[in-house]
Amino acid sequence: MAHRVDSPRVINIADLRLLARRRLPRVAFDYIDGGADGEVTLRENCRVFDDVLFRPRCAVSAPADLRTTVLGHELALPFALAPVGSSRMFYPRGEVVAAGAAGDAGTAYTLSTLSGCRVDEVGAGTKGPLWYQLYLVGGRDVASAGLERAMKAGASALFVTIDTAVAGLRERDFRNGTKELLTRNPWTMLPYVHQFLVRPRWLAGFIGDGGLMNFPNVVLKDGPMSYADVGAALEQSTVCWADLRWIREIWKGPIVIKGLMIGDDARRAVDEGAQGVVVSNHGGRQLDCVYPTLRALPEVVAAVNGQCEVLLDGGIRRGTDIAKALCMGARAVLIGRAYAYGLGAGGGAGVARAIQILRADLIRALKLLGCPSVAELDESYVTYPAEWRPAPQDRAGAGVK
Ligand code: FNR
Repeated sequence: MAHRVDSPRVINIADLRLLARRRLPRVAFDYIDGGADGEVTLRENCRVFDDVLFRPRCAVSAPADLRTTVLGHELALPFALAPVGSSRMFYPRGEVVAAGAAGDAGTAYTLSTLSGCRVDEVGAGTKGPLWYQLYLVGGRDVASAGLERAMKAGASALFVTIDTAVAGLRERDFRNGTKELLTRNPWTMLPYVHQFLVRPRWLAGFIGDGGLMNFPNVVLKDGPMSYADVGAALEQSTVCWADLRWIREIWKGPIVIKGLMIGDDARRAVDEGAQGVVVSNHGGRQLDCVYPTLRALPEVVAAVNGQCEVLLDGGIRRGTDIAKALCMGARAVLIGRAYAYGLGAGGGAGVARAIQILRADLIRALKLLGCPSVAELDESYVTYPAEWRPAPQDRAGAGVK
């Protein structure tokens, strides 16, 4: 059957991507799949993993222990789910079902501020840790109230995204009529609605789930922020370093800075009291032609010098990608599209399938590397281009990993 995510023919994340393309209307699929401008960084985020090669230790029996600790949580896997806004557009109650699948697999789910489901519903829907991602849309008071609700819902860590001073130019969204479809004016929408009609399964789910979502975690004076207002709201709400001070006063748990690419910013994050950083370029959706994230990882790892946890996201489509990032100093990684494709293809079952694929990949990779556990992966298992190594001025003190 065409749409079965558990079919034996679904071998890798690329297969889930194809299933998502078949189930979703183009405007939703391209929203997940696309990147900014010429999509150079989007492609490079994936391709750059080919530049890192393994150095296996053979004739070793390795138990392949995948457990790790991230932000004080014991996770069964060294990867967690990244914040992916508007997941409710991909599948009914998308954020709740994705979080549920993460928890069932023993890992964490990060809920975007710009989600279609309420944070308390998402918290109630998962057995695993819930993390919350912050945008300041709506202003400081609106964000503060959102943080309070997230803490009440049990969110244990806050990911503050700093790479979204303005939304990137996602050209596919323009071509697919995203703006026109949000006008609710039938004449303006008309040239673009055929993409829904050729996806009846998705359409039935979308209508059954209440139609166009709003953002229930962004509560303005007159109710939740509407979908059409989000672009302008993002532009008026750039997160700056100074904001971390008032955020820190409200948020009692660990704070992670998401979306930095250079050692200086990572050191600044540590100075501001962050417990973690995510080396991320927003999956190539913001500034195009920025470095791929894996390329930036050694500089950031050296810059923080063990003073906070370093996570990475961007381009992860295989378990071997995860192994490479861990070898190069990441504590864990976040996956974005890898699970979003699964969600679009088949809801919670699709997310579970994505996680299962990456988990099986990782176990196989550890066994073939002759490494007993993800905790023991280090640079001795890989080789990567010498120019990726940080310049001496980017190293913070001695003892660089
Ligand atoms: C994202 N990302 C994102 N990040 C964030 O901090 N808040 C958000 O609301 C979103 N929304 C979002 C939507 C979609 C459709 C995608 C694909 C991504 C970025 C995300 O958290 C992560 O950084 C990237 O997805 C990582 O790259 P890969 O794994 O998708 O290649």
